[in-house]
Amino acid sequence: MAPQWLQTLFLAMILAGQGIVNGLTLNVDDEASIKDIAGKVAYNTMSYYHSNESSSDLMPGKLPGTWWEGGALFMTLMQYWHWTGDKSYNDVTQTGMLWQKGNNDYFPDNQSNYLGNDDQVFWGLAAITAAELNFPERKGDSSWVSLAQGVFNTQVPRWDTTACAGGLRWQIWPYQGGYMIKNAVSNGGLFQLAARLARYTGNQTYFDWAEKIWDWSATTPLLKQSDWTIADTTNMQANCTDHGDLQWTYNYGQYLGGAAYMYNITNGDAKWKEGIDGLLGTTFRTFFPKKYGSKTMSEISCEPNMKCDRNQDCFKGFLSSWLTNMAEIVPYTHDQIMPAILESAQGAAQQCSGGDDGTQCGRRWYQDTWDGSTSMESDMSALSVISSTMFMHKKNSQGPLTADTGGKSKSDPTAGADDGDEQPGELPDISTGDRAGAGIVTVVFVAMWGAAMTWMVYGG
Ligand SMILES: *[C@@H]1O[C@H](CO)[C@@H](O)[C@H](O)[C@H]1NC(C)=O
Ligand SMILES: *[C@@H]1O[C@H](CO)[C@@H](O)[C@H](O)[C@H]1NC(C)=O
Ligand SMILES: *[C@@H]1O[C@H](CO)[C@@H](O)[C@H](O)[C@H]1NC(C)=O
Ligand SMILES: *[C@@H]1O[C@H](CO)[C@@H](O)[C@H](O)[C@H]1NC(C)=O
Ligand SMILES: *[C@@H]1O[C@H](CO)[C@@H](O)[C@H](O)[C@H]1NC(C)=O
Repeated sequence: MAPQWLQTLFLAMILAGQGIVNGLTLNVDDEASIKDIAGKVAYNTMSYYHSNESSSDLMPGKLPGTWWEGGALFMTLMQYWHWTGDKSYNDVTQTGMLWQKGNNDYFPDNQSNYLGNDDQVFWGLAAITAAELNFPERKGDSSWVSLAQGVFNTQVPRWDTTACAGGLRWQIWPYQGGYMIKNAVSNGGLFQLAARLARYTGNQTYFDWAEKIWDWSATTPLLKQSDWTIADTTNMQANCTDHGDLQWTYNYGQYLGGAAYMYNITNGDAKWKEGIDGLLGTTFRTFFPKKYGSKTMSEISCEPNMKCDRNQDCFKGFLSSWLTNMAEIVPYTHDQIMPAILESAQGAAQQCSGGDDGTQCGRRWYQDTWDGSTSMESDMSALSVISSTMFMHKKNSQGPLTADTGGKSKSDPTAGADDGDEQPGELPDISTGDRAGAGIVTVVFVAMWGAAMTWMVYGG
């Protein structure tokens, strides 16, 4: 054994060397370089995916320990295909998207007892993405737009007026922590989904719901128009006047992404321009820190201490693709957004210098040496931002399609609506005694949750 100091020195040299020798050098001016790097990152991302293998006890589209990320993964892969033309993952994406569709509503029985509105809406957003990009459909199976409509149709009846005069709860079932919370990603998610359905189908109902969700959000800290900030959560016990203020890129991405569609549909209505300008200003000030040059995206609430969880490592990818989409459908934002996407993509590629082969991605896009972390989620975020740079080489792109501009996916406004009264499905058949017991457990849980929240509101 070498002395400790020598080992440390060697390790430092190896780590430093990895940053320089390996890493992926992205040349955003060169299409071939983008496709090459994106292809490697897509391959690495999918090397974590085994749910399509017969030896797997998972189902297609279900990732170990998480359900919502499957939808997010497929959304990212469809965008990758759209930007680069690489079809390698189309089959696996199509299969997973259809396997998890449940009753055409992305609320499959195997998962629905534990799903929140935010989990479900990510699959809905993946489905509307598929429709807008003309991602191949499977003959005789559900259309992509109908699956997005199914998510809309199951979420709208959950609009809750028992407190805060509206809003979607975070969680759907009382036994889930988060039942008494209304959060930005659930409400922003349905807002964005409704806005995109409005643009794709031209149906006024979706537009009205999108506007209603935006307007309601603006009565709470979830969308604070005085300084254009987005609180992550607010509690029903406080009638949605309190706020959990952790700042996350994807919350801004949800509301900005939806506002972009509303702006585009209304031909540049001042209401949506004001929202876009306000939220975009906050997004740049907050998530593109000056100290890293103002153009490199950072998940500021968890990157400094390297404590991002797997969910959080996905978020920058969403903001990247939704900003790029905005540069397309809100053209005046293009010159502010795209330089930041290019810079962030170069940073992300540089972070892809870890793991055994020196191409796995860390999370700190601003750091020129690998930050020591690897995950499917960081690969996915890097894939999203790197693929997005292709927009610079597709000047004649039509943007997201609609039913009137070449989108082939067929609308079904009734999709998912025949689920009847929503009940937790598939709970084991239990005797009356058990059921009462379960009821008591729920009541106690809700009471404890209420007490915890009250403490957070009044004591914190
Ligand atoms: C599963 O998906 C991976 C990644 O796309 C692919 O390489 C592999 O061939 C697929 N396996 C099966 C059995 O479809
Ligand atoms: C639900 O889970 C069961 C048991 O694992 C499995 O046989 C079935 O295929 C699953 N259904 C779906 C849609 O994944
Ligand atoms: C809760 O807030 C809504 C507006 O957001 C208001 O209309 C209602 O009166 C409030 N209820 C209570 C109990 O304060
Ligand atoms: C709406 O988006 C299209 C691209 O799909 C773009 O050409 C058009 O200029 C946008 N409309 C407005 C008002 O910005
Ligand atoms: C518009 O959407 C609503 C809500 O899903 C539906 O009830 C209505 O039939 C749709 N209208 C058309 C023309 O598709």
